[in-house]
Amino acid sequence: MATTAPTPAPFADSESRPARSDSRGDVETRTREIAAEVWQRLQHRSPSVLERRWWEEHLLEWAMTDESVKVQMFRFVDALPMLKTHEQIISHLGEYHDEVASHLPAATKLVRNVTEASGLLARAVAYSARRHVTGMARRFIAGRDAGEVAEAVARLREQGLAFSLDRLGEAVLSDVEADAYQQHYLDLLEGLAPVVEDWAGDAVLDRMAHDHSPRLNISIKLSALTARFRAIAPDATAEDVLGRLRPILRRAREVDAHVHFDMEHYAFKTLTLDLVERVLMEDEFRDWPHTGVVLQAYLRDSEADFERLLTLVERRGTPIWVRLVKGAYWDYETVVAQLRSWPVPVFQRKPESDLQFERLTQRLMEASDRLRPAIASHNLRSLSHAVAAAEHAEVPPGDWELQTLYGMGEDLARVFRDRGHRVRVYTPFGELVPGMAYLVRRLLENTSNDSFLRHRYDPATDLEDLLMPPAAALEAAPPQASPPAHTAPPPFINEPLLDWAEADNRERMTEALESVAGDLGGEYPLVIDGKAVDGRSTLISHNPSKKSQVVGKAAAASPEQAREAVESAARAFETWGRRTADERAEYLEVVAAELTARRYELASWIVYEAGKDWGEADGDVAEAIDFCRFYAREARRMDGVDAVHLAGEENETDFRPRGVAVVIAPWNFPLAILTGMTAAALATGNTVVMKPAEQTPVIAAKLFDVFRDAGLPNGVVNYLPGIGEDIGPVLVSHP
Ligand code: FAD
Ligand code: 2OP
Repeated sequence: MATTAPTPAPFADSESRPARSDSRGDVETRTREIAAEVWQRLQHRSPSVLERRWWEEHLLEWAMTDESVKVQMFRFVDALPMLKTHEQIISHLGEYHDEVASHLPAATKLVRNVTEASGLLARAVAYSARRHVTGMARRFIAGRDAGEVAEAVARLREQGLAFSLDRLGEAVLSDVEADAYQQHYLDLLEGLAPVVEDWAGDAVLDRMAHDHSPRLNISIKLSALTARFRAIAPDATAEDVLGRLRPILRRAREVDAHVHFDMEHYAFKTLTLDLVERVLMEDEFRDWPHTGVVLQAYLRDSEADFERLLTLVERRGTPIWVRLVKGAYWDYETVVAQLRSWPVPVFQRKPESDLQFERLTQRLMEASDRLRPAIASHNLRSLSHAVAAAEHAEVPPGDWELQTLYGMGEDLARVFRDRGHRVRVYTPFGELVPGMAYLVRRLLENTSNDSFLRHRYDPATDLEDLLMPPAAALEAAPPQASPPAHTAPPPFINEPLLDWAEADNRERMTEALESVAGDLGGEYPLVIDGKAVDGRSTLISHNPSKKSQVVGKAAAASPEQAREAVESAARAFETWGRRTADERAEYLEVVAAELTARRYELASWIVYEAGKDWGEADGDVAEAIDFCRFYAREARRMDGVDAVHLAGEENETDFRPRGVAVVIAPWNFPLAILTGMTAAALATGNTVVMKPAEQTPVIAAKLFDVFRDAGLPNGVVNYLPGIGEDIGPVLVSHP
């Protein structure tokens, strides 16, 4: 029975509850007391060789011996579910093994021998590899189907633990998969609602101070509800995602289930928050308190995200739950941002994430009447601090909870449960292939040098170190590594692509598209020796995505005009070829700066004339910029004379320009390839006849404008659109 919401009244006390200081002492002292008590109660026993855990831990331990072994092992784990025959498994094992053979224990030589053998031994090794990896996956994934899931959650309930179910299935690539993902959740709600209703009551698990806590709880990744979760297209994404989400929320409300929205990688964050905010403000869901979202403390902007959520619930008038995590995509965020030359969005020192986690824990506890705290971690210090902060802010016991992941920190979960806290276990289920990304994240987490879990079992680790306050750990940590000192020249850095998750970039592109739309249909004459000339006929350039739209009308050169263009370039070569490499490089740097300044406009022309999407069009401009900068730099590097003098010999090499270059570029990278070929010729002292593809003469005209505005002398570049069959033969056979 979905209810229509009256406009909810704002919270009576909309200020965060002030932290109290009381006789229980400060939060730090309590954190240590609680942690010490929990530590005492933990089983520190190591598993025996007869237990599955022994094998799992040894596999992980082995992976941790060496970074290269870890990488190879995870690659193998990642590929394994797709390998159908034992021959394939053996051949992959062999390949991965070979790369790191010298780092492995002697026992693994078996793999090497097996690759040469066949038959029974190969089969046995392949079987064993699959069994161990599947076993490792089962540690983190609760089951494959509804039956196994029902058993798993019943077991958790018996142990006094709550659950949140997550259907594995990231990287949805088609509407069919997105529909299936939605259906899985609908089936799950249908199937489990009557089961959990029959359970005997449990005050800790089922109650809040003035409400109940639904027994059925699901976690969902919004990106799996569409084949195209794209920040660049927020409206289309919203329509697709919310279209599939609303029926799930509706059904969840009807069967009294809680729905939690997971947070994925940074590129999805703003859009995820936008979508959550939008749907939670809809009349149908606005007064529904059994929902929540994830806040990632490892993000530099997590404080702002907290503020945003606070504003949301104040507008909404109904609380939501906030699951505070550190964040599961640390390696990905770090590597991808560096690759793209974007600012790294996550903290780079572990204690910074820990510190932020504790700050946000405290803020959540203080605002717990609006943002219900669900503190998710496997770190004894972080969990104990949450209990201390809850005590300090006097949050009623049922109004906040602890959360852990299935297969991680199970004994911690049990001890906190025994202390009377509600502990919810995030329980993923589904097939191994769609679950692979999840599994790899867990393996990374368990084997990371910075992971609490890794150090917990290390006999060399001292409890004092494990419990060190993050601020002190930060002081003790080595300063942030500065980039390694490079000998000149520094490495070439590609022009970063635009980040379409940034609303500002999307707005600027929209404006540029609108502005360029006003210039469509213009005429573009040939330019030979700096003079505009009419052609023999006209090339009408159409928008391939909207054939009726004329992008521009370019002159088409005659064979005679092609000869004139070559002569003009040959005359210009007399002086251009004698310029120094440095002078030529400077021109190209000016061109690069001009391309950068006109980036959105040029990308818009590419959208209209080549039919590319925004990201591809921007990539084309960025690559054009790279070409100019790269060739300028290389021209300087290659300048001068290299001499090798041996007894009786004098050897010198230098580079000399050749003359006129004819650049005939294809349409598929209409700006980048044309710029690259032209810039290479100019950098090396040659002059150019620039013949663009028949489909994209207008983009070429815009590029020609840039060359002209950079001050290149007349004739150094000549703009010669035309029909390939007419002028191609003249150009390519010209002496
Ligand atoms: P710790 O060992 O204390 O912390 C490890 C974490 O510290 C790393 O995961 C990383 O976040 C951070 N870190 C590691 N190295 C560095 C470094 N050099 N500099 C800065 N920070 C560093 N994660 C999500 O992203 N989205 C979710 O929706 C989500 N849901 C979850 C639900 C539950 C119930 C739980 C328990 C976890 C969830 N997580 C989610 C995963 C969670 O982010 C990781 O399990 C968690 O980060 C591990 O932290 P920890 O406190 O257990 O361990
Ligand atoms: C993940 O998928 C738990 O949501 C978190 O890694």
